[in-house]
Amino acid sequence: MNIENYWSGLLQLTREVKKHNGPVDYCFIKFGDEHEIHINRLLVPDTHWPMVLVVLNPRVLNDHQLASVIELQGVKAILRKNLNMPEEIASFLCTYIPYCFLSVRARQLERAIAITHFAQSLDGKIATLSGDSKWIGNEQNLIHAHRMRALCDSILIGSRTMNCDQPSLTVRLVEGDNPLRIIICSSEGDFRSLQASADEKIIVMGGEEDPCLENAEYVRFPANPDGKISCSDILSYLYQQGIFTVYIEGGATTSSQFMKESMVDIIQLHISPMIFGSGVSSFVLPEINSVQEAITFQHYLFIPMGDTYMFVGEMNAHLHV
Ligand SMILES: NC(=O)c1ccc[n+]([C@@H]2O[C@H](COP(=O)([O-])OP(=O)(O)OC[C@H]3O[C@@H](n4cnc5c(N)ncnc54)[C@H](OP(=O)(O)O)[C@@H]3O)[C@@H](O)[C@H]2O)c1
Repeated sequence: MNIENYWSGLLQLTREVKKHNGPVDYCFIKFGDEHEIHINRLLVPDTHWPMVLVVLNPRVLNDHQLASVIELQGVKAILRKNLNMPEEIASFLCTYIPYCFLSVRARQLERAIAITHFAQSLDGKIATLSGDSKWIGNEQNLIHAHRMRALCDSILIGSRTMNCDQPSLTVRLVEGDNPLRIIICSSEGDFRSLQASADEKIIVMGGEEDPCLENAEYVRFPANPDGKISCSDILSYLYQQGIFTVYIEGGATTSSQFMKESMVDIIQLHISPMIFGSGVSSFVLPEINSVQEAITFQHYLFIPMGDTYMFVGEMNAHLHV
């Protein structure tokens, strides 16, 4: 069993958790040629294939003789017991398993769960002032972003990121389905890279319908007094469409608007060993006067990512059982 086998098991887990309507206390996963997922049900023991028990509610079940045990505490996955799993596999599972269960929280909140990701320099810059951001992150960060795209139902960016970066927003570096691609754009946008990279429809939020843009669906929202689209309206709308998770890949204006409305659940910051000294900051938020006013994190972790680290922080305590 290699990482790719486990990865296809996690994709199946994500799909099955999404289909499950109701609380999840624990889940057994048997990784193999054909994976088996049992939610809130015991699995018939099989010593041939690695079995993992994921515990969400330790009061209901917290151990099993023949399974490795991973306990979920929000974005943290704690390996409680390891039955012969190589270290590399165990840390891989602990990194990605928390995202497989986000649909449970989405159902409870009746809105999509938002995860925002940036690759940033040591001084917190995500692009130069001329708009160049390729490549601040390393190769592992790119693979990570593709994994997250595959685990999430949708991916969202702002118009300037689309125009500057001309991204594809598809899953190419790992196995998995492309997420629904969403652009917030009221002005004229350059959709060429998105149209060239996949046939699936693009959702455009804001803006007037452009009849020349093929395969695009326009969604209109009433504007806030500041002229912005309400991010809470976006997340509620997505949930109603059966889209339970959204991966926000920038830029700063877009992610910060979600943050201002407390509509970001998880932040992922890939820290690159570079200093810009100028450039576009990761976040653009109202000015604060004292350090005590800074956003802090009760639950966070630093995950090794190739030759550097990724910070993962929870913005809201509601991810905990
Ligand atoms: N290093 C990284 O990980 C990374 C990732 C992504 C982007 N980037 C870089 O970030 C830069 C772009 O960031 P940015 O902050 O300038 O722009 P941005 O966030 O990409 O786009 C901002 C635009 O998106 C639309 N928008 C977003 N949220 C909205 C809302 N709630 N309501 C209404 N409109 C909304 C508006 O478009 P309209 O003006 O059309 O209405 C707004 O002008 C680029 O240089 C890109 O390369 C870096």
